[in-house]
Amino acid sequence: MNYEQIWLVGFMGTGKSRISRPLAAALDWLAVDLDALIEQAAGEGIPTIFRAGGEAAFRLLETNVLDETAKKSNIVVATGGGSILAEANREAMKRRGFVVCLDARPETIASRLLASGAHVSERPLLQGDDPLSKIIEMKTERQLIYAQIADFIIQTDDLTPDQVTHQVLLAFRERSAVAGGTA
Ligand code: S3P
Repeated sequence: MNYEQIWLVGFMGTGKSRISRPLAAALDWLAVDLDALIEQAAGEGIPTIFRAGGEAAFRLLETNVLDETAKKSNIVVATGGGSILAEANREAMKRRGFVVCLDARPETIASRLLASGAHVSERPLLQGDDPLSKIIEMKTERQLIYAQIADFIIQTDDLTPDQVTHQVLLAFRERSAVAGGTA
């Protein structure tokens, strides 16, 4: 099997959107941002979607948009951090895609997100007095799923976006060659 997509998964603030563009450019593929597609489909921003219909409404939209996106080829998809929660989503990503998990320590995530107040307010699930505790709790709950779905996991704390992009590219090329050679 040859991978026709790269899916970037991982907790909020791990840099998925940031590296999707250079990664796609290096492969001459298209960078796709799932949260942006969800907002486009809903005609409103993520905080509004959560306010109006709760997390359930958001997850439904997420699954629909992910399913449509999974039909395309030659794309690098930056997913939302919770996209791995639904089994249907995981199956859709794994069908033809190479799944990369960007990881970072909770403290790194908190400082990246808090560096811009706007980023926290755009993430309804991190609202509250203590975003770091929330990050630790949610990340702990999800960690096993990230580990199970990922073909490649990269620790981003001490890397620049360029370094992360480069390492993901190396892993992808190595694994694609293996996949292609044995098909
Ligand atoms: C979410 C992550 C967000 C966005 C939504 C829910 C999550 O995306 O999809 O707020 O459940 O982790 P980012 O990971 O791009 O912040």
